[in-house]
Amino acid sequence: MKNGLEDVIAAETQLSDVDGEAGRLIIRGISLDELASTATYESVAALLLDGLTERPVSEAELRGQLGLMRTQLFAHVQSLDQDLLALPPVDALRALIARLPDGEDLDAALRLLAAPAVFLPAILRLQAGSEPTEPDAKLSQSADILRMLTGRLPSKEQTSALDAYLVAISDHGLNASTFASRVIASTRAGLTSSVLAAISALKGPLHGGAPGPVLDMLDAIGSGENARGWLAEALDRGERLMGFGHRIYRVRDPRADALKQALRPLVSAGQVDRRRIELAESVEQAALAILRERKPDRPLDVNVEFYTALLLDALGFPRESFTGVFAIGRTVGWIAHAREQALEGRLIRPRSVYVGPLPRAA
Ligand code: CMC
Repeated sequence: MKNGLEDVIAAETQLSDVDGEAGRLIIRGISLDELASTATYESVAALLLDGLTERPVSEAELRGQLGLMRTQLFAHVQSLDQDLLALPPVDALRALIARLPDGEDLDAALRLLAAPAVFLPAILRLQAGSEPTEPDAKLSQSADILRMLTGRLPSKEQTSALDAYLVAISDHGLNASTFASRVIASTRAGLTSSVLAAISALKGPLHGGAPGPVLDMLDAIGSGENARGWLAEALDRGERLMGFGHRIYRVRDPRADALKQALRPLVSAGQVDRRRIELAESVEQAALAILRERKPDRPLDVNVEFYTALLLDALGFPRESFTGVFAIGRTVGWIAHAREQALEGRLIRPRSVYVGPLPRAA
């Protein structure tokens, strides 16, 4: 038995494959390198949901339906009271999603895809003391998220960068949150329950909670020449370097490159500070070198969260919201896996080995 269930096969899926040795992610037969530079959020959602809803939905239909759903769901932001707004954004997001009805049909799926896109920007604006911005049903999900966040129409480069991010993180094999979603789906509890369980798994720092701390680390390091000393001290204290290492990848996480690529047009358009990227590259090089020295037997490379931090920061998301933005993108993967599991039909119920005391003989 392995405590982390590594190498245990717990599902058969047509959705995505993570090849940790080759550093390759395949989503529905298409490599991420190809998807991240061309796909939109709606196209990857249509791809992932293909065959898992009661009728097929095209990218164009999804765009329209999600726009309408965002508009309908906006009324829910009125229930954001001071207690909810005092929570970290991902917890407030989870609480609002918990108000949605459970269901397994296409409507339930669309509601859950649109909900975090509307709720998170509203939570962030209210937490910053401004009024939430109403959705615009005519926009794509990515453009509307940025518009609801900032109150301004985003540039073409910003919309494409958010699309690239949402596509890159849409699905990723049987990670902890996706497994949680499948376990809940196997009990037939419904899609809202699956998504709530998945968000709860995602928020931990070993899964989707790392990119905020990545930015804290870059701020604390401040300049390339401080990197090595700062990182060495962190490792001496027994800390893990956020944005590095992965359970499956033994080489570079391909999503990190897709996001680095997505940052380029923002840099060229002067919409992100070039010095920030240079600092990140110096920190990355220093971290890789020191991890190689300290953990020679365990290949540790950069993971998705490192460049997520830079990209989401450049798009204007506050660092405490990064896990919530991850949830906006991953919800489609959670729903697709939940549907796949529910259609397969078998309750997930593994066994444990009892190592406690035995009852005394009568
Ligand atoms: N910094 C320093 N040491 C590390 C790191 C790191 N980022 N990652 C792993 N190690 C060490 C770990 O302490 C262990 O050392 P030892 O054997 O001496 O105790 C050794 O490397 C092997 O660790 P592992 O068993 O391969 O790690 P894991 O599979 O349990 O953990 C991980 C994977 C992602 C939780 C871990 O690499 C980590 O904590 N990284 C930092 C947090 C982070 O970036 N999280 C985002 C993950 S990517 C998003 C996603 O897909 O969910």
